Amino acid sequence: MQPAELKTESAAYVDANLTQLEYLALNSEMNLADGHARQALTTSQAVIIDSLPELFRMSAETPVEQLESRAHGAFFHALGQHEYPGADGRVLACYSSSVAMEILSRAVVTEIDQMALLHPTFDNIPDILRGVGITLRPIEEDLLHDADLPDSLLDSVGAVFVTTPNNPTGRVVDEERLRRLAEQCREHDVVLCLDTSFRGFDPRAQYDHYAVLEQVGCRWAVVEDTGKLWPTLDLKVGWLVTSANLNLPVDRIYSDILLGVSPLILTLVEHFARDAANGGFAELHEFIQTNRSVVRGQLAGLPGLSFPDLHSTSSVERVQVDGRSSMDIWAALREENVHVLPCHRFHWFNPAEGDRTIRFALARQTNLLESCAKTLRSILADG
Ligand SMILES: Cc1ncc(COP(=O)(O)O)c(C=O)c1O
Repeated sequence: MQPAELKTESAAYVDANLTQLEYLALNSEMNLADGHARQALTTSQAVIIDSLPELFRMSAETPVEQLESRAHGAFFHALGQHEYPGADGRVLACYSSSVAMEILSRAVVTEIDQMALLHPTFDNIPDILRGVGITLRPIEEDLLHDADLPDSLLDSVGAVFVTTPNNPTGRVVDEERLRRLAEQCREHDVVLCLDTSFRGFDPRAQYDHYAVLEQVGCRWAVVEDTGKLWPTLDLKVGWLVTSANLNLPVDRIYSDILLGVSPLILTLVEHFARDAANGGFAELHEFIQTNRSVVRGQLAGLPGLSFPDLHSTSSVERVQVDGRSSMDIWAALREENVHVLPCHRFHWFNPAEGDRTIRFALARQTNLLESCAKTLRSILADG
């Protein structure tokens, strides 16, 4: 394509949401767009998959309550979340974290119409919240990490929503900040909502959040996710976990939407979580670190190019290119059949802030990342 055609191509998609851009990549071998896990199974994960017929039969014969409790027990303990409220029906299994998010949003809007949300973050979070009629106010990431939230903001909203580790930046709310945030929410009777879908990639996000939330005693809800971690072909669970004092119709809305997650998927999650606790997480972290180094190494030294998230351990990597629009780079890469995400839509309040960054998904085979990074290098080197 000529530069003018590339411009037309990028203009046609500038308003697409991130998932629409991810659809375009689904059939490409060079799909670095979505944050789903598409790497090969490890040796011990392959052993679990080889035992699927047996797991299927066992799942069919076991009461679902036991399967659920074994799945969330294995998953939450593997991630250091020992004080999660597993015993009294406050952990709801959903088909995905987006479904958990939809249920939470519909419950929240019965009481609350104004919410503060981290900026930037993955766009389906603001889209779902706005979709149920909630008005959003941005919380800039530096503000969240550096200081208390302003009283005026907390007085004007009924809930605060934070993604930690954040997608795409990988920034993590540490224990001290979470405690202070929870205290502020309790003082202002604001519901604190967390999306921790990416915590499996970052040990800094694996201190016991539930111990902090329960000690402080604010009203809270957490969306957890198995879906980003393991290459299980999107067989996954999103969990919606709530405080006893939340007092919103979460159970009722859950029952409006689903009966439960497949027993086989619950069993799979239990086995993958046990494997993760027995060395699988360490292996995953090393793999992602290798992929991050390969991408950074391939792109190193290009003028105007930088990596804004130097401390991220998450399964995505942002690349900033000064002087080139992210949509133009996205279109030029797409012309070579390489799919990434332009970042403007993560900046749901101010898209212009994301105009110079693209996002690579790192949960892919290393040689694929290497060749896609080389393609980007040659596009940028050609100007
Ligand atoms: C932080 C975060 N939460 C939730 C989701 C939604 O996940 P799913 O598509 O599995 O529902 C995403 C998707 O990438 C995400 O980045």
